[in-house]
Amino acid sequence: MKFSNTLIYWYLQNNRELPWRKTKNPYFIWLSEIMLQQTRVAQGLSYYLKFTSSFPTVFDLANADESTVLKMWQGLGYYSRARNLHYSAKVIANELNGEFPSTYKEIIKLKGIGDYTASAIASICFNEPAAVVDGNVYRVLSRYYGINTPINSTKGIKEFKILAQSLIDTKQPGTFNQAIMDFGALHCKPQNPLCDSCPLADSCVALEKKLTKELPIKEKK
Ligand code: ADE
Repeated sequence: MKFSNTLIYWYLQNNRELPWRKTKNPYFIWLSEIMLQQTRVAQGLSYYLKFTSSFPTVFDLANADESTVLKMWQGLGYYSRARNLHYSAKVIANELNGEFPSTYKEIIKLKGIGDYTASAIASICFNEPAAVVDGNVYRVLSRYYGINTPINSTKGIKEFKILAQSLIDTKQPGTFNQAIMDFGALHCKPQNPLCDSCPLADSCVALEKKLTKELPIKEKK
């Protein structure tokens, strides 16, 4: 498929070198994905390095005091993320023999893990074709396909998930997911997207109809 192949090709040439890109250890990917929610990569990076060196395995995290974990989380905000992380680490260590669940269906049962995180872990670590839909994905898809369904409506959430799911490269789902997220973060940016050098420019609906600034649509609540 042109869209997916183009994105993956772009990603292979432009992807950011990040420590969690060098591993498929689900515990590390989980840490990185939780930290990167509502947090920019540049800020999350130092926390990721601190956590993985202090707690190199899920047992180390499970056995730490909650106060230690929260202290190390200081500055990242949204402390429920840290509490859920610690809680789920204990579940994995004590009830699952330290073995991270390996399917979307099992991963999403863990506290603090929703559709986005379960899809990210299942695709990156276990090659399951589960599409991630974050803010970057909404932007890229709404522009390229010219979709004006509000991304924060029930209809929009469903529509974009189905579309992303239909586009995912089933041979390399983790690469596709990270490619579309990086493309949104670095190229198809919210402001001043780099349309002049865009590898998808010749078939982008928003570019053709001059709707780039208008999309994605968010409904006022
Ligand atoms: N943002 C959060 N997780 C990401 C990932 N794995 N790749 C690119 N951007 C992300």
